[in-house]
Amino acid sequence: MGTTNRQLTAKYNGDEETKRQFLYIEKAKDYVQALSNELGRKPTCCVTTFGCQMNARDSEKLAGILELTGYELIEDEDADFVIYNTCTVRDNANQRVYGRLGHLNSLKKKNPHKKIALCGCMMQEASVIEKLQKSYRFVDLIFGTHNIYKFAELLVSMYESDSMVIDIWEDTDQIVEDLPIERKYSFKSGINIMFGCNNFCSYCIVPYVRGRERSRNPKDIIKEIEELVSDGVVEVMLLGQNVNSYGKNLMEPITFAQLLREIERIEGLQRIRFMTSHPKDLSDELIQVMKESKKICRHLHLPLQSGSTRILKEMNRKYTKEQYLALAEKIRKEIPDIALTTDIIVGFPGETPEDVEETIDVINKVQYENAFTFIYSKRTGTPAASMENQVPEELVKKGFDKVLKTVQDTARMRVALLEGQTLDALVEEINEQDSSLLTGRLSNNTIVHFKGSHDLIGQIVPVYLKECHGFYYLGELQK
Ligand code: 5AD
Ligand code: SF4
Repeated sequence: MGTTNRQLTAKYNGDEETKRQFLYIEKAKDYVQALSNELGRKPTCCVTTFGCQMNARDSEKLAGILELTGYELIEDEDADFVIYNTCTVRDNANQRVYGRLGHLNSLKKKNPHKKIALCGCMMQEASVIEKLQKSYRFVDLIFGTHNIYKFAELLVSMYESDSMVIDIWEDTDQIVEDLPIERKYSFKSGINIMFGCNNFCSYCIVPYVRGRERSRNPKDIIKEIEELVSDGVVEVMLLGQNVNSYGKNLMEPITFAQLLREIERIEGLQRIRFMTSHPKDLSDELIQVMKESKKICRHLHLPLQSGSTRILKEMNRKYTKEQYLALAEKIRKEIPDIALTTDIIVGFPGETPEDVEETIDVINKVQYENAFTFIYSKRTGTPAASMENQVPEELVKKGFDKVLKTVQDTARMRVALLEGQTLDALVEEINEQDSSLLTGRLSNNTIVHFKGSHDLIGQIVPVYLKECHGFYYLGELQK
């Protein structure tokens, strides 16, 4: 676990909102202390994350505040306080939340002190709030994506109220810096470089629930990374819905490639990752910076969504199949050791088996190292949801299976190309299935399992890539 809390408390800087929130943390401490006295032990809390890396980072912010107020963080929903940080990109994420809430309610009946909070993207949907108000009255606190920085204040409101507290904002232009964060890993960390999205892909709910694009000031980003590095972090993942348009709305505009150059200079930082890149905004300047860099990892996640130019147009993606292929080819040529991964949606309204073939053609041509394939999920309020020609489930399933098979076959071949090489891996954890093995990540994002001492966790070590098993390797530590 990181020690970021202590540093950030001490840094109590001039930002007014940050100051206000630290006052609420002090107030919340009194409530947690009172609860602690009643229970005769430290109250426990559990933060459960659904969805993407942005949510994972937000959860670390929630955990940072909870820990500072006096809670003990545990990974068990039996805790005295449970918070779900939700996702709504696809409907199955929503359904999982409703399902698990029922279980939380039964736990709450056994523990009269138990509090339940919900936050994140799903809470930005009016229909969700209506449903929670009607059928899930046992939830104590609900807030959204725009006011997560006032979590301490909301905790106090929750303790001072005996009914459900709901605070949802439509949008915000606020970026509040320097709040406490409790990192999951001591040696690597996500960093938000921007929030929101302006692209309005026609199937996607993100611009509605995360608001307009806002970039953080480069100085704040650099400062945060420098502090993380002095706290033991060797790898950072820069996070944004579309990092390639970073900096365009700043008072002094700067490109993402320029930001990367600045970050590269931070001494002690060894690896830089970022996600996600929209193909329409990926510049030659970025390819050049990646090519010259010693620290930027050899991995680019470049969502395709569909290989059919007609469907791409309907999706409002603003590139054609040919433009995407040309871009992928240019990247592979300039940076031959790069791994390309992607996101694909099957079953977008109006998609025919011929369109699916176009997607398969792109997969075969680009030869992704990995691809996340999703079945199209209708999101209320998006333009695609009201398109008439929704594809029948049976047909979607057929297309999905075919795409998945192509991804697996091509990725297996592509990943196997590294067999016999020795490459550096950042040791991340003890293997979940076999505790004699460590799990490491190569610069190109491929996972390798190998035998080694547990104290190597957090270090970058050379590993011989012995056997390829589809998407991962079994390897041997090289001395
Ligand atoms: N249905 C299915 N997949 C979706 N994604 C975004 N919206 C939807 C949707 N409505 C996928 C896209 C995106 C990834 C994060 O989630 O592929 O890149
Ligand atoms: Fe959604 Fe498109 Fe924005 Fe990605 S770029 S978050 S898919 S709208």
